[in-house]
Amino acid sequence: MLAHHGTLGETMSSGRVTVVDHPLVQHKLTLMRDKERSTQGFRRLLNEIGMLLAYEVTRDLPLEPVEIETPIGGMVGRQIQGKKLVLAPILRAGVGFLDGMLSLLPSARVAHVGLYRDPETLEAVEYYFKAPSDLADRTVLVLDPMLATANSAVAALDRLKARGAVDLRFVCLLAAPEGLARLAAAHPDVPVWTAAIDSHLNDHGYIVPGLGDAGDRMYGTR
Ligand code: PRP
Ligand code: URA
Repeated sequence: MLAHHGTLGETMSSGRVTVVDHPLVQHKLTLMRDKERSTQGFRRLLNEIGMLLAYEVTRDLPLEPVEIETPIGGMVGRQIQGKKLVLAPILRAGVGFLDGMLSLLPSARVAHVGLYRDPETLEAVEYYFKAPSDLADRTVLVLDPMLATANSAVAALDRLKARGAVDLRFVCLLAAPEGLARLAAAHPDVPVWTAAIDSHLNDHGYIVPGLGDAGDRMYGTR
């Protein structure tokens, strides 16, 4: 069942999947879906939505007390507990979220996960991986605008867990119901934040209505 709680706008959460329904996110997402949107516009909007999603995905991070001195006197403030977060974009399209997220989380570490989807089999093929060595001690936000079959997301999470990560969250822009089901089956411990859940996948594994190929639209490589 979807529960509602007020946030920046309205956010719907099923416990494992949170749909960030804030008006700014939805407005910008609609602009991005438009096939006439320029490469520059698409990239800028993805960056802006990344910032808004960073706000939502971090809203329940634990805080700890910290003693500070203001110019007027002492007080106990609150700060985010533990080590700095890790942002783990799945290349290429996940990089589109990175700058926006880093503008809110400037001290975050970055893990790059290079994967492409084989166009015939739709299996994820790894071509690059570089991550901080202490993943086990950090919250890891895995970033990819598109959750389609979830082959890429599952492969990235498998890889990050094999390197020690235990506290993971997945952030995307669009999710297909098929991808959400597969991700829940493969990694039931990983909660998901998305701006929308679309209708279904087409015969080529593209999200319908979706926005097309996110990487190609970001980088103008069609
Ligand atoms: C796209 C997208 C995801 C993946 C989603 O990447 O950015 O990583 O497909 O599909 P899936 O859920 O079925 O795995 P793509 O392989 O096209 O690479 P790119 O980002 O380099 O364009
Ligand atoms: N990858 C994309 O970029 N778009 C889709 O719709 C599916 C996978």
